[in-house]
Amino acid sequence: MLEIRAVRKTFGKVDALRSVTPGIPAGQMVGVIGRSGAGKSTLLRLINRLAEPSSGQIAWHGEPVSELRGRALLRWRSRCAMIFQQFNLVPRLDVITNVLLGRVSRHATLPSLFKRFSEAERAMAVLALERLDCSQLALQRAETLSGGQQQRVAIARAMMQEPDIVLADEPIASLDPRSAIQVMQALRAINREDGITVICNLHTLDTARQYCDRIVGIAGGEVMFDGLPGELTLDTVRRIYGVEGDGSGFDESATSTAAGLERSPAREPVAA
Ligand SMILES: Nc1ncnc2c1ncn2[C@@H]1O[C@H](COP(=O)(O)OP(=O)(O)OP(=O)(O)O)[C@@H](O)[C@H]1O
Ligand SMILES: [Mg+2]
Repeated sequence: MLEIRAVRKTFGKVDALRSVTPGIPAGQMVGVIGRSGAGKSTLLRLINRLAEPSSGQIAWHGEPVSELRGRALLRWRSRCAMIFQQFNLVPRLDVITNVLLGRVSRHATLPSLFKRFSEAERAMAVLALERLDCSQLALQRAETLSGGQQQRVAIARAMMQEPDIVLADEPIASLDPRSAIQVMQALRAINREDGITVICNLHTLDTARQYCDRIVGIAGGEVMFDGLPGELTLDTVRRIYGVEGDGSGFDESATSTAAGLERSPAREPVAA
């Protein structure tokens, strides 16, 4: 269980998050939605300690991760793998080496890139790539891959950390629809098959509803909704996306997601 107890984060006068308290059971896949600036990335950064809470506490299975220091903090970071919108692969290195870099945190010293990874680690990297349907790309430089391929390689790299939690910050925001489906299916697969807790910031409500067990909606640093996808109402969606009853303040994404919900409250099937 990931417990987020009354966590607050301020940047100067900006309250990026105020008293956020969702408890996330291990093995859940959570979609975090909200408009730009709502506090989604801040939440993920607080969980893996890229940012420090101004107050409150975060605990994993009872261990207060917001107080970890030194090696214990590094261990925690390696148990929380991050997936970024821009993939963050090393462009000039080949795919297999990028994937092996996911093991670096397991080594006492930085391994020289090609020599110090064990045979077992190399085999593990090949298996991770096979699972993400990318083994044929192993020797290609990362910069030659499509966005969707790069993100799947980034997921393979994350798997090398053997994480408890994957924190994905807008993992499909730069992808075409087909690649976005493959990446969301890959995240769902590691969640279901490996029991990895996945917390995924998403811009589109439909994606969150389609792939996640639970949705947390944030607006202005506050949790406006925390529940099952089917429990979201149009009114709540309007509050999350800041849409006024009279229609003022509608932006394009909020209009389409709100309208989509009105048309079809049921989950849409995952496209092949
Ligand atoms: N390092 C920082 N310094 C100052 N303000 C920050 C910092 N990081 C975030 N903020 C502010 O905190 C608020 C929440 O930002 P955050 O990046 O978490 O939003 P977000 O929901 O991820 O938005 P987006 O969808 O655009 O990625 C914003 O007002 C942002 O400007
Ligand atoms: Mg963000």
